[in-house]
Formats: sequence, structure tokens, C-alpha cells
Amino acid sequence: MIELAELSIAYGRGPSKVSAAEGLSLFVDSYELVAVVGPSGCGKTSVLMVLAGLLRPSQGQARIYGEEVRGIRRDVALILQDAGLLPWKTVWQNAELALRIQGQKDSRERVDEVLHQLGLTGFESRFPGELSEGMKRRVGIARALALQPRVLLMDEPMANLDSLTREHIQNLILTLWREMGFTGLLVTHDMEEAVFLGQRIAVFSPRPARVVEIVDNPGMGTVEYRGTPEFMAKVAHLREVLGGSS
Ligand SMILES: Nc1ncnc2c1ncn2[C@@H]1O[C@H](COP(=O)(O)OP(=O)(O)O)[C@@H](O)[C@H]1O
Ligand SMILES: [Mg+2]
Repeated sequence: MIELAELSIAYGRGPSKVSAAEGLSLFVDSYELVAVVGPSGCGKTSVLMVLAGLLRPSQGQARIYGEEVRGIRRDVALILQDAGLLPWKTVWQNAELALRIQGQKDSRERVDEVLHQLGLTGFESRFPGELSEGMKRRVGIARALALQPRVLLMDEPMANLDSLTREHIQNLILTLWREMGFTGLLVTHDMEEAVFLGQRIAVFSPRPARVVEIVDNPGMGTVEYRGTPEFMAKVAHLREVLGGSS
């Protein structure tokens, strides 16, 4: 599970100091999928960077499965907004990349399987330049899931996609979460996405980020949830909490 305990994050010092989080606490249980929404620039990405072991907090602690995060962990994967594919590597090689960096060999079957789960079978030897934007994002997701992470951190992985492609990938993430059983933290600025994919939704304040509200969302978990009155009411509630500030 994920624990943020009174976390503060600061960039720079003195008069140029930028505080990206202050006294932020959040608990995500094992196998829970929690969405994070908040105004642009409030510190969402910074919080994920701390959990990924890429940034040190200035105060407080981030813990994963009870251990303080002190660097990159093998059981944590991060998906960024731009899938971060290497244009000179094929779909298969891009999907294998994180495993290769971790020095995990004999991973051919796992890469094949995850590409299959993301509907990319048959595209293994294509290059990113030959893919649609939605396919590129799916390769980025495949790369992270090939690691079989216990914790999956997602930073707006469906931003700037057309609405049909976005919904398709949201459905895929829901299915994969139910099949693979990871603990997930999904940052998004899309209220519908937060309600579709968050068992709970943490609303961050404007910078420096702290949690202003946690919205329970027990209806989440099926594709049919989207469009129900309960779903619409949660979206409306989130919009109200954020006050149009995002
Ligand atoms: N490397 C950095 N150096 C200085 N300031 C940064 C750096 N990265 C982010 N910031 C600042 O920290 C604040 C939070 O950024 P970020 O975590 O990216 O917010 P969000 O993801 O919510 O949009 C912003 O004001 C941003 O300008
Ligand atoms: Mg961000």
C-alpha cells in the first residue's frame, strides 16, 4: 500500500523557493485504485515523483508497503502523460524496455502477454511513428505493466486523446486493474475519468498541494457505471469541490 505522511515538497531555496506540497497525507490500501484531481500546477506530478523515488521530499515521508521510499523500487511503475517511447525502437522493444533496464531477462513471454492484453498483438515490429496516439499510450502502459508492479503510478496517461480513445483506454485500465491486482494512484484533470477509475478520489488544493477532500465512490468498477445518475452526481460534486479552479 501507499502512505503519504505529512509530506512536503519544495523546489529551490530562499526567495525562489516553490512549495509543491505541504503537510499532505494520503493512504491507499493494497489493491485500491485511487484517483487524484487538483488544479493545474498544484503539485500532483511532484507527489508521484516522490513515490517513484525520483524526488526527495523536504519533510514528511512517502512509504510503500511500509518502507520509506528512498529511490527507484522494482515493484513500482510510473506511466507518464507522453508515453515516452523511443522512436528508433519497435513496439516490442519499447514494451520490453523497463524490464531490460531492470536487468530482467527471459521476459519474452511476459512482453508478448502484456502486448496482447493491450490489443497490440500484430503490431510488435512497428515503430512509434507508425502508430496512432492511442496505440502509443497503450505501448507506454504495456511497458509499465510488463514489470508486474505492485504499485502503478499514472500521471494523466489519457490526457489529450479524443474522447473515444480515452474511454477505450480507461476501460482497459479498469480491466487490467481487476485482472492483475495492483495498487494504483491515477492523476487526472478529467473529472469523468476520476469517477470512472477511482474507488476513492482525493481532491488536492491549489499549490502547495494538500488533500482537501476524499470522495468515496463505491459504484466504481464496471464499464456500465459511466453514464448512470450516480456517476453524474459524483462528477458534479467533484466540479463543485474544485470550484472550476482546474
Ligand atoms: N523541477 C522544478 N523546479 C522548480 N519548480 C518546479 C519543478 N517542477 C515543478 N515545479 C513547480 O512545482 C509546482 C507543482 O508542479 P507539478 O507537480 O508539476 O504540478 P501538477 O502536476 O499538479 O500540474 C508548479 O508550480 C511547478 O512550476
Ligand atoms: Mg502534472
